[in-house]
Amino acid sequence: MGRKVPESDRDYILGLLPAIAKIGDEGIREKVIRTWHRAWKQSNFSRIEDGHQFEPARDYIAYTNVEHTNQVCQACEKMAAISVEILKLRVNMDYLLAGALLHDVDKLVIFDFQTGGFTEIGRKTSHAVAGAALARAEGLPAEVAHMIDTHSTNFSSRPPGSAEALILRQADLLVAHSVYLAHGLEMEKVLNESLTRKTW
Ligand SMILES: [Fe+2]
Ligand SMILES: [Fe+2]
Repeated sequence: MGRKVPESDRDYILGLLPAIAKIGDEGIREKVIRTWHRAWKQSNFSRIEDGHQFEPARDYIAYTNVEHTNQVCQACEKMAAISVEILKLRVNMDYLLAGALLHDVDKLVIFDFQTGGFTEIGRKTSHAVAGAALARAEGLPAEVAHMIDTHSTNFSSRPPGSAEALILRQADLLVAHSVYLAHGLEMEKVLNESLTRKTW
C-alpha cells in the first residue's frame, strides 16, 4: 500500500483544505491527501501554508497557495452548479474537487522556500506538468491528472478536454486575476517582472 501518512499530518492537511472532506470517493480522497503529503515532504517548506500563490512574487502579494486553492475549490463548486443547471453539463464532482485541490500542489516542489526562486525540479519541469506527475504517482485517475496538466493559462501546453478541466481553468483564472486586481496589480506584469528579476 506504500507510504503511510501519519495521522497528525492527515489532520493537518484536512484542516488546511476543507474541500477534501467533500470528496465522496474514499480512494480519491486518500490519494489527494497523499499527493499533498508527498509534495510537502519533497519540498523545503516547513509548513504547507508558508507557500505563496506565486513564490517569486511573494514580495508583491501576500497571498498564499492554500488560500488560493480554497478559493478555487469554492469557485469550482459554484461554476459546476451553474454549468449543470444552465448548460446541462455532466460534471463529476469528485474529479472536479480533486483537480481543484491539487492544481497548484506542485508549487511546493517547483519553488524554493529559501530563495523564493525555482528548485532543480522547477527549472526542469514546468508548473502544471509537475503537479500532474505528482497526482499520477499517487494513482489518481487520468481525468484528474488531465485537469492539473491543462489548468494554467500561462504554463499549460494543452487546452482543457473535459467539463471538469474547463471549469477548473476558468475558475483559477477568475480567482487569481480577481485577487491581483483587488491589490491594484496586473497579474501578467507581476509574473513577468518577478521571473526576470533574479537569476536562479
Ligand atoms: Fe497554477
Ligand atoms: Fe491556481
